[in-house]
Amino acid sequence: MAKVTTLKLQEMKDKGEKISMITAYDYSTACLAEKAGIDSLLIGDSLMMTVMGDDSTVACTMEQMIHHIKPVVVGAPSPLIIGDMPFGSYNESKEQAIHNATRFLKEGRCDAIKLEGGQEVALIVKAIVDAGIPVVGHIGLTPQTVSKMGGFKVQGKGSAAKKVLADALALEDAGAFCIVLECVPEQLAKLISEKIKIPTIGIGAGRYCDGQVLVFHDMMGLFDKFLPKFVKQYLNLGPEIIKALEQYHAEVKSGAFPEEAHGFSGVTEEELKELY
Ligand code: KIV
Repeated sequence: MAKVTTLKLQEMKDKGEKISMITAYDYSTACLAEKAGIDSLLIGDSLMMTVMGDDSTVACTMEQMIHHIKPVVVGAPSPLIIGDMPFGSYNESKEQAIHNATRFLKEGRCDAIKLEGGQEVALIVKAIVDAGIPVVGHIGLTPQTVSKMGGFKVQGKGSAAKKVLADALALEDAGAFCIVLECVPEQLAKLISEKIKIPTIGIGAGRYCDGQVLVFHDMMGLFDKFLPKFVKQYLNLGPEIIKALEQYHAEVKSGAFPEEAHGFSGVTEEELKELY
């Protein structure tokens, strides 16, 4: 598969070809996504919830993100790889944002970074883009500021739609090459996707975005704390894995596993006798 670039995503929007994106946090998942031909992988800070078991993404650190970006880059050479900047890593100053975004590319070796926020981070987005780093915006429901929003709720309903549109326009003006729209009404996501030239990637934003992203653990049934309405579960692996683990547990207890075929030979009876 040819490497997917930021320009390729733009070409896909221009041609009307939808963009597929999923989250990935490790080498094995990245290899599977590569084989499936997924266009783009996001190492999302959602790993704080799906991998680390936290209730939110807020505590995520730069080190944790870089740790997870590296194996995804190794496992998936073709998709566009995007690293998610954690809460507190880009809001203090342009210098801080450029420094941390640069670390993602130099240490993590991803292709682009994503950060949350609209008009309030536009100057920061511009500074990072001016430093030569491709930026994905993320507006609507922004999980890093979920406390401020009063919970995981649909954003941009009624008169609040104006703000979400203004956020999208501000990010496009600032030089973002793509925008994630999370949990906004479908008709608003459609209007934004038509109004801006860069691709929109929806999650809980309906059918008309230029692409879609889902959290791997949600779509595969590996995270059972809650399942948002917008998730389509393509597999329900959790119960299957539990069944397999129960069988393994029982077989270890009973001695049914391992069988002779799972072991190694290499010491003769005579050699063993000497050891006894
Ligand atoms: O962290 C994440 O996985 C995300 C997606 C939900 C877009 O930001």
